[in-house]
Amino acid sequence: MQTDFDVAIIGAGAAGLMAGIEAAKRGRRVVIIEHNPKPAEKIRISGGGRCNFTNLDAAPKYYLSQNPHFAISALKRFSAHDFLIRLNQAKIEWMEKAPGQLFCRHSALDIINWLMSEFQSFGGQVWLLTKVTILEKISSGFILRNTRQDISCQSLIVASGGLSIPKMGATGLAYEIARQFGHELVPTRPGLVPFVMNEDSRGGLTGLAGLSTTAKVTCGDTAFTDGFLFTHRGLSGPSILQISSFWREGLAIEIDFSPHQKLIDTAYQMVKLKPKSSLIGLMDTHLPHRLGLAMLENLTIDPQKRLAECGNKTMQILSDRLHKLSLKPTSSEGYRTAEVTLGGIDTTTISSKTMESQIISGLYFIGECVDVTGYLGGYNFQWAWSSGWAAGQVA
Ligand code: FDA
Repeated sequence: MQTDFDVAIIGAGAAGLMAGIEAAKRGRRVVIIEHNPKPAEKIRISGGGRCNFTNLDAAPKYYLSQNPHFAISALKRFSAHDFLIRLNQAKIEWMEKAPGQLFCRHSALDIINWLMSEFQSFGGQVWLLTKVTILEKISSGFILRNTRQDISCQSLIVASGGLSIPKMGATGLAYEIARQFGHELVPTRPGLVPFVMNEDSRGGLTGLAGLSTTAKVTCGDTAFTDGFLFTHRGLSGPSILQISSFWREGLAIEIDFSPHQKLIDTAYQMVKLKPKSSLIGLMDTHLPHRLGLAMLENLTIDPQKRLAECGNKTMQILSDRLHKLSLKPTSSEGYRTAEVTLGGIDTTTISSKTMESQIISGLYFIGECVDVTGYLGGYNFQWAWSSGWAAGQVA
């Protein structure tokens, strides 16, 4: 006994639901198979519960891929503005939290409820708590054996995401299917992920968990200036998450805790205007007090020492610590907490216009499982919407 559908989609996440809506709107009989008890868990937890659902500047340059041109077509055909039009039609309120970064005003659930009701209004079915067991290619399409009822379909859209946060249901199924049908994989690694620092790699900056500031963090030729957070395990915050996608095991990162104002310049001014200023007074003008104190103590420099009594050598040492602190992360926190998976299904044999496999007709790969990974800031959901939309037009 099997049920026939035109389109079967594996994964009720952002990409799968968008593809489902578009295909069902065209009159296709669509089923989405999801092994979790609820759809779109990552939308629910994203953006602190408010989902940073897009970025108005979602240009290809903000995506990492072995083929940087691959994302251009889908992002252009269904852009951030197109998604916004849909949200406005659905009367979902949103706000721009940082330039270009759009979040739900109330709750990420607004987006999930809208996607689900839109999909179901076009006759789409979502089978929750359903696991795919075997996938077979037949002349008319595919047979999907699963824990509920076998399915036959003409088109199969793989939207089961990457490896990040296994506790929320992430699996490597998309990669297994890709391999089964002869697709190559670009090695995967966790992205947008905090760093773990052991005691020796913290540059003496211990006991600062919970302290946040702004910093410019550099790794190789890439730098991000944004929020920076000391955690119990190491480092986090937007600047660290961003740089983590460019970092490799063994590399050092360089941190500038005052990227817009040089310590030496402030010191010259203070010596002239307030000759009695102390070193900690100087540090306080650049950094949260606890961080400045920790730096001075680590360098065994008396925080109360008068600025006017400090030689050039001391000032240079302090300046290097503040502007060029080099730390070598022990590791990243891995897929356990990574927001995304870098790498994935090689785009060489996928159509950039439709997301269809160029090896097996009727097979599509969309969303995070593909080797396209965005920066932090709404870019990853936009890729899910754009690639899902593209597949939904033709599958
Ligand atoms: P997604 O992972 O969302 O969906 C895949 C679905 O497939 C899941 O429902 C999963 O359960 C299901 N599945 C997996 N294996 C299966 C199997 N074997 N059988 C059946 N179903 C299976 N991005 C952004 O742009 N803005 C943001 O604010 C955030 N914030 C954020 C916070 C956190 C904590 C995380 C972890 C991630 C983000 N992201 C983000 C990234 C964003 O969540 C991610 O890029 C998208 O969810 C990817 O959408 P997909 O639909 O491709 O995969």
